[in-house]
Amino acid sequence: MSIFRDIPPTAGFPLHAQEIVAAITCSRGEDPLADDFKKYLNAPYARTTCSGTAALFFICCAIQKMTSRRTILIPSFICPLVPLALRRAGFTVAVCDIGAQDFNFDQARLETICAANRDIAAVVINHLAGIPADVEASLTVARKHNIIVIEDCAQALGAFSKDRKVGTLGDFAFFSFAAGKGLTMYEGGMMATMHEQYASLLDDAAALYAPRNAALETVRVLQLFGYWLFYRPALFWFVFTLPQQLWHLCGNDIRALREHFNLNFPLHAVSRFRIGVAHSAFTRLDGEIAQQREKALWYFRKLEGCRGVRLLQESSGDRATYPYVTVVFDDPAARNKVLQHCVRAGIGISQIYARAIGDYPYLKKIVPAEPYDNGRLIVKRTLTLSTNTFLTEKDADEVVRIIKEML
Ligand SMILES: Cc1ncc(COP(=O)(O)O)c(C=O)c1O
Repeated sequence: MSIFRDIPPTAGFPLHAQEIVAAITCSRGEDPLADDFKKYLNAPYARTTCSGTAALFFICCAIQKMTSRRTILIPSFICPLVPLALRRAGFTVAVCDIGAQDFNFDQARLETICAANRDIAAVVINHLAGIPADVEASLTVARKHNIIVIEDCAQALGAFSKDRKVGTLGDFAFFSFAAGKGLTMYEGGMMATMHEQYASLLDDAAALYAPRNAALETVRVLQLFGYWLFYRPALFWFVFTLPQQLWHLCGNDIRALREHFNLNFPLHAVSRFRIGVAHSAFTRLDGEIAQQREKALWYFRKLEGCRGVRLLQESSGDRATYPYVTVVFDDPAARNKVLQHCVRAGIGISQIYARAIGDYPYLKKIVPAEPYDNGRLIVKRTLTLSTNTFLTEKDADEVVRIIKEML
């Protein structure tokens, strides 16, 4: 292990200097990134926001105006920022456990919950790990009970469910441009809808809750320059792995995975400069995804037939983006062994979330604490393998060697 060669755990796009220059000189439109998304999704409406969480919050504000129901349903394994956004918008959070095999809802439970709770306004479908969720199954249940569908595409920009892009399948969608999420502006997001009639509701929410904040935006611009400088193997350890290890030493796995959040998440307008940077990088989307898929294939091939592990893959006919590859271990103890061995190895092995959504102490008053068995199991049994652009096939071989040795 060398602290001067540390591979990021997910496939964030490194920023190119020419993208920064292009952002300074580009003068096209108010929100050229939203224009990119409208064109890409063939959607009538898209708008850049200061985070994926902010985008979800605005979507919830719009839903407040569309229905008198006040509960939103989420899966048991999802980013803890999601229930915070729902709560801040005034909704009660309900949870449906995921199934035993992947990140999709347990469909039987979904049907039971939606049939029993007439207060459910919307359901969040999560395309986690860049793998398109089974939208069709959840959509059928949602439509039957007159429930709005929000697609969480924070980790899945560029993925296809059959021949349709994720983000175009439900009623609303949001994306994230946080550091490490692929296309980035350090912190940022996009909200979109295929229904033109909801556009003004989303715009009203953004106008009301996202004022200009010069101080915070200046911080974000500096963070984006920091990302440009440090998001490379030679420097990544100092800004990411070192603090992560310190939090692990303090026994705080939630902070180590950067999952300590609160209801007071920032809401503000994004500068033309940061929008311009992501707009310039947008042209790289297909090329970067092709690379990610190629690296995911290395793992699929090298671990094929390996007893004791299963790799989560796209369903037939779908196209996942694989910002990382998810490995499910039969035995949680074997997972722990690999994780402990590799956490300092600098080869991009990590975890998705520290807890099932009902188990974060700071969400205690927001998320009902029920036994989400499959959500908890996936926390204990999974780890993630990087498909970052800096990962070489030699690194992948080393990862596979360690996994096989520990099994
Ligand atoms: C699945 C998922 N949903 C929502 C979010 C929130 O996005 P953001 O970090 O841009 O607020 C994230 C990212 O952390 C995520 O991974």
